[in-house]
Amino acid sequence: MTMKFGINRIMSFLEKMVINYKPGFLKKMVKASLLIVYYSKSGNTKKMAEAIADGARTVKNVEVVLKTVEEATNKDLVTADCIILGSPSYFRLPAWPVKKFIDESVEVFELLKGKKGGVFASAAGKKGAKVCLQGLKDMLEEHGIIIVRRGLIGLIVKGRPSVKDVEVSCKEYGAMMARTVCEV
Ligand SMILES: Cc1cc2nc3c(=O)[nH]c(=O)nc-3n(C[C@H](O)[C@H](O)[C@H](O)COP(=O)(O)O)c2cc1C
Repeated sequence: MTMKFGINRIMSFLEKMVINYKPGFLKKMVKASLLIVYYSKSGNTKKMAEAIADGARTVKNVEVVLKTVEEATNKDLVTADCIILGSPSYFRLPAWPVKKFIDESVEVFELLKGKKGGVFASAAGKKGAKVCLQGLKDMLEEHGIIIVRRGLIGLIVKGRPSVKDVEVSCKEYGAMMARTVCEV
């Protein structure tokens, strides 16, 4: 009787190990991948992207890949668990190199569905930034990417990023995105 009870306890413990421990165990074995891809001409969006990457790197078990739209490939998009897309606002819309990059991603159209995503924009004014963010979000959503929102949509910085923008807003945004990509 005692022995049977003991075996049941052991079986139940092992079941719990398998059911509860497996996701955490696998997560430690395989790093989640977060891709930050952006365009920048005069450096503002680049500063944001670098600070977002720094923030994301503070989270364990996340591999952070930072690339410009000129460097990134469709393979980078497919490999990533989370894609963060950034652009300056040009006549309120995302800059054309970002649009070109996304247009060319049609080749992997079916393969990005269900990934997590985020968007950030640099602009001179609020209206330009908001419309640009919406455009970036729409492009990712059309791929079936699920946007992890910050505020209404994503991260906006007006003009040249201040120390506070870089050290607080961008880094916190990167860390927040990295934490969500770790969630099962
Ligand atoms: C061609 C062009 C169009 C722009 N159009 C807008 C706009 O419609 N609204 C806005 O707020 N800012 C506009 N800007 C300002 C840029 O979005 C802003 O300077 C941004 O920080 C530039 O980012 P970058 O330094 O990463 O290139 C425009 C800039 C350029 C060069």
